[in-house]
Amino acid sequence: MNFMETVYSVLVVDDEPDNFDVIETLLHDTGYVLNYASSGQKAFDRLETFQPDVILLDVMMPDLNGIEVCRQLKNNPRWKVIPVIIVTSLSSKEDLAQCMAAGADDFVSKPVNGLELRARVHSMLRIKQQYDDLQILLQAREDMVGMMVHDLRNPLTSVLLATDMLRSPNLTTEQRINKIEQLEIAGLQLRSLIDSLLLMAKLESGKMVLNRTDVDIFTVCSAAIAGFEAIAAQKSLKLIQTLPEKGGSLSVDATVFRRVIDNLLSNAVKFSPRNGKITLQAEYLSTGGAKIQVADCGPGIKPDLKQCIFEKYEIGTLVQDASQIGLGLAFCKMAIEAHDGKIFVEDNEPKGTIFTILIPIENHQS
Ligand SMILES: Nc1ncnc2c1ncn2[C@@H]1O[C@H](COP(=O)(O)OP(=O)(O)OP(=O)(O)O)[C@@H](O)[C@H]1O
Ligand SMILES: [Mg+2]
Repeated sequence: MNFMETVYSVLVVDDEPDNFDVIETLLHDTGYVLNYASSGQKAFDRLETFQPDVILLDVMMPDLNGIEVCRQLKNNPRWKVIPVIIVTSLSSKEDLAQCMAAGADDFVSKPVNGLELRARVHSMLRIKQQYDDLQILLQAREDMVGMMVHDLRNPLTSVLLATDMLRSPNLTTEQRINKIEQLEIAGLQLRSLIDSLLLMAKLESGKMVLNRTDVDIFTVCSAAIAGFEAIAAQKSLKLIQTLPEKGGSLSVDATVFRRVIDNLLSNAVKFSPRNGKITLQAEYLSTGGAKIQVADCGPGIKPDLKQCIFEKYEIGTLVQDASQIGLGLAFCKMAIEAHDGKIFVEDNEPKGTIFTILIPIENHQS
């Protein structure tokens, strides 16, 4: 979230409405939304339905004084992250220490100075924003770990089941071959997930040095297609390849390039309905470099999601019974950009998607 674009709300708690008017005047050009509560109890009532980004709290109030309000706020897991700025005419060190002990985050002395008030509120909002951003990141990480464990567990369960069944002496040769194929598919899924994670961590850390060699697109693409034949057969998908003659070459990192193709094919297979058709098309360009396209007849990608699916952990539209972690395309984008290339998605006709990769001829200066 962008600090500059967010509208922040401030709750002012003071038994004197005149004091609220002063604060409102001093903060009027900041764009903050100001809310007012005339007692500690009213503040708690308001907090039941809305969460401000910062609280300005008077100390001397009848019934519930500010220090007690602050203590109760900071003892409540729902509210303790809201920064509290005590607005006080108290100035003795003991009083300030008492406010601190109650959990106050900052102070402003009365009579309130506009410049100081704005600076202190701004500083608390910045800290709160950092906290909120970290929470979002933490939640995303937690979700991701949960999904990853789930995705590692599924193929692992297949491996264990298939191994167990292979022990049975009553299996026919066909059943045995079937189980071995299942084992292979599960193994490939596991390897693909782990490879994606490792390669992406390397690319992200900037420590990945591309190991460019002259690669024959025909060889890589037909090997990739062969790797998906078993999974495609399970969904009765037709895999079609239109590849250049054997013997040409493109200067790329062969492992990374193969993983990009694998990821695009994996998506096409995963998101295609049964009996669908998937096409892998590749050609060397007359300008040097190459163009590779993977087309499917699946559900397609909504226009507003065409950019963001290339971000890490973005899974676009949820699809039933499909594992969606959101790493594949992020990896593809990083990998292709590391080759100074481009990757983008367009609609297929009448339905589905076409992912296109353009890899330019290697620039020896870079
Ligand atoms: N060929 C496709 N057809 C329809 N939707 C697609 C296709 N490819 C990708 N998507 C959408 O984009 C999302 C992101 O794809 P990406 O490959 O990054 O992650 P993923 O397939 O969900 O998980 P993984 O990390 O295992 O690849 C998918 O979850 C899906 O919603
Ligand atoms: Mg994917």
